[in-house]
Amino acid sequence: MPNNSIKITDTTLRDGQQSILATRLRTEDIIEIAKDMKNIPFYSMEVWGGATFDSATRFLAEDPWERLKLLKEILPNTPLMMLLRGKSLVGYKSYNNEIIDSFIKESAKTGIDIFRVFDALNDEENLKQAAKAVKAENKHLQMTICYSATENTGLDGPIYNLEYYETKAKRFQEMGADSICIKDMAGIISPYDIFKLVSSLKKLIDIPIQFHTHSTSGLGPLSVIKAIEANVDIVDTCLSPLSLRTSQPPIEPLLITLKNSERDPNLNLDEFIRASEKLKSILPKYSDLVSNSNNSILDSTVLKHQIPGGMYSNLLSQLKESDSLDKLEEVLNEIPNTRKDMGYPPLVTPISQIVGSQAVSNVIFGKYKIISEQMQNYILGEYGKPPSPINPDIIEMVTPKSKNDPSDEGLENAKNSISEISKNIQDVLTYALFPNTGMKFLRIKYGLDQVPENMKLYKSVTTDTAEKLQSKSEINIKENIITINNNLQNLSPDSKTYNIYINDESFQVTVDPTTNDNSSSTKTNNIVETKTKNMEIESTQENNIVKSPLPGILSKYLVVEGQDIKKGDPLLVIEAMKMENTIPSPKDGIIKVLPLEPGNLIARGDTLLTIE
Ligand code: CO
Repeated sequence: MPNNSIKITDTTLRDGQQSILATRLRTEDIIEIAKDMKNIPFYSMEVWGGATFDSATRFLAEDPWERLKLLKEILPNTPLMMLLRGKSLVGYKSYNNEIIDSFIKESAKTGIDIFRVFDALNDEENLKQAAKAVKAENKHLQMTICYSATENTGLDGPIYNLEYYETKAKRFQEMGADSICIKDMAGIISPYDIFKLVSSLKKLIDIPIQFHTHSTSGLGPLSVIKAIEANVDIVDTCLSPLSLRTSQPPIEPLLITLKNSERDPNLNLDEFIRASEKLKSILPKYSDLVSNSNNSILDSTVLKHQIPGGMYSNLLSQLKESDSLDKLEEVLNEIPNTRKDMGYPPLVTPISQIVGSQAVSNVIFGKYKIISEQMQNYILGEYGKPPSPINPDIIEMVTPKSKNDPSDEGLENAKNSISEISKNIQDVLTYALFPNTGMKFLRIKYGLDQVPENMKLYKSVTTDTAEKLQSKSEINIKENIITINNNLQNLSPDSKTYNIYINDESFQVTVDPTTNDNSSSTKTNNIVETKTKNMEIESTQENNIVKSPLPGILSKYLVVEGQDIKKGDPLLVIEAMKMENTIPSPKDGIIKVLPLEPGNLIARGDTLLTIE
């Protein structure tokens, strides 16, 4: 029989569980499922990378390296694939070359055979180091083109069109790619567009082409068939219990569809049914994680907002964290605006997180009142070149900053920071990638801290924050004009900070009497004036207490007790919604009390430090 069989990559243990179960599937269950799949002749199985690394350490107190080692033992004959976010590896910011090389080397050594590498901006400069490192390990380099549409323009938009994708594919082949992946992370490509795209790329390049999509809008299973008709080499599918919705199309119906066709993958349906039945028996304990917020399993609005599967469940938990689930629709409407302001980047991690969090923040706090460190870096060009220019009004809000000392973020520094806990390079990398949650995890791993209750259950840490938020005392004030400035910059010493509650939304405002006169009109970039009625305000005010404007986790203090500081100096960094937010000092003074420790959960309005 002529061998034009379609090859199959199974995504159940990475993208499947990331899209449907918020990446909370535990290693013990992953291993059980893998056992049932070990004899299926997949082209590859995607089992690692993406959000799984962060999630294992952050939410499950599990070692991702250990998971990979076990998977390799159980699946010795199946090529294992990971998803790697270019310079961001499995994190949300750019790491230096030394960390990139070391991480890829360790991943290859522990079990990864195929590295699916992408850059959120499809910027080849950002992929160079990772590509070189994969080649150095003699592993399969799959370079990825993130599929995006300019607006609702499909393959014919002014920015994203056939020519754009052809240029990228050619370039990636020149860079040494062993295969190309078309990654439709939001599931928005139409069946006829993927047919056109694959057909033209097949003529243009010699290396295999793989198609990755999601079922979010309902297009996924149809697009897979048209990609196969266009002679795509490999497609991604998932075991049926974790398929459809925001995940990949299921494998079982595809087997029947292709039966006796020229592209029949010749796989045994019974083996899949057996594996899917096992998976079904494991899933009930994760049922809390399956989002019930939508009565439809398809989401056609994705065709407008282009939110990828993994990001959607993230967005929900981010809104829950801020106690603002009722704002979901507003946020979904804000995302296309934010994306346009940012030069139409494809919405894929980490850019999707950065844009998504900014949209959340724009809705909750007001447009660009808070701009996370990551968003500032994006605007300053550190993530690469967006496909079209960033809104100049927003560029103006961000001041270029002096580069951090690179030794702060190197491998050597990470080794030193955890030398008392571990000297193992995998632990060093865990810490180097995620200094905050990585350290928390390593302390648990080595018995220095107990496994927190919320990590034993499948509950997210954000629930505690939400509970803490509900125990606030409030008083009433009537008609007032206040100035909201969440950046806490450029305030006079007379300013006072309040936590206010409007329609059950709590946020912090700073009242600065000097900004109400006309002389301060130059500050309007950061400041919005609001007329409020019947506003409820938290009871006590102490001028020397700096309170948190948002819930999150304390990353680090940037000051020490007794330190002299000036107004506007950076005080500390709060990680919220996976973004880092630097809180500047509201005034001159001396640092008195630093009551928190890195890793502490912070509710909005909690005392961060005192200045006298
Ligand atoms: Co995906």
